Amino acid sequence: MDDSSVVRRPAGPLTDLDDWESAHGPSPHSDSASVQGEFRDYRTNVRPGVIEFYRLNHKFQTLDFVLEKKREYLARTKRTMSIWQAMEFLNTLVDNSDPDTDLSQIEHLMQCAEAIRADGHPRWMILTGLIHDLGKILCLFDEPQWAVVGDTFPVGCRYSEKIVFPEFFVENPDSHVAEYQTQCGIYSEHCGLDQVQLSWGHDEYLYHVVKDYLPAESLAMIRYHSFYPAHREGEYRHLMTESDVAMLEWVRRFNPYDLYSKGHDRPDVGALTTFYQDLIAEFFPPMLSW
Ligand SMILES: [Fe+2]
Ligand SMILES: [Fe+2]
Repeated sequence: MDDSSVVRRPAGPLTDLDDWESAHGPSPHSDSASVQGEFRDYRTNVRPGVIEFYRLNHKFQTLDFVLEKKREYLARTKRTMSIWQAMEFLNTLVDNSDPDTDLSQIEHLMQCAEAIRADGHPRWMILTGLIHDLGKILCLFDEPQWAVVGDTFPVGCRYSEKIVFPEFFVENPDSHVAEYQTQCGIYSEHCGLDQVQLSWGHDEYLYHVVKDYLPAESLAMIRYHSFYPAHREGEYRHLMTESDVAMLEWVRRFNPYDLYSKGHDRPDVGALTTFYQDLIAEFFPPMLSW
């Protein structure tokens, strides 16, 4: 049976796959006093499902888990699909949230891309907005939510206190491995983020699918868009090269389009299809290995 017609729900405690983003609160760099107050209190307002999601994520994302998932997925033997087919495949993933007010996965992607386009950014960045969450098809390969979304963080070294819900790391077996709990852990200082194993999820997966076709700035946006401890909190500089630091500026530039384009008008997917299919064809071959 063609499983692109089967609607599936992501397995895990989140009612909406993007709910984990509510744990961030407003940007800590905002200078508005009320926003700062809200930021301090955000944890008391987070839904129980989000807290449970982070408990599972922090408990199970070990170095061994990340390496195992990389062995499984980076061989890219799951499927052969075009970018457009992957968008349609992702759209079969349906959350428990209200379909009248919440956007489908394709709508989120197009809304993000349209906001980037409206601000006059280059075509590669519009395309980045369009595809940045396609790695969420991991849910359709039956990965649980905690192995697909959520803030990412380095494994194999000490956890930053600025990762959301850092107290949940006591349940992670790696927190009891002395070698993994020094500041650099298994890495050397300024080794470069490319050498660092981040918790596994949709960002890293998509990066490997598309890495031969997009400029470095775009690839940084895709690979690190959930790495909030670095791009929002400024942590883990001791593992970065100068070029990583420069690339994170691009990730920061991308982030508002991902977070705050939600809630704008619903994009007219039909009317935008030709524009986006042309844009995809400009950068990608007809078929990709997933
Ligand atoms: Fe994402
Ligand atoms: Fe997104």
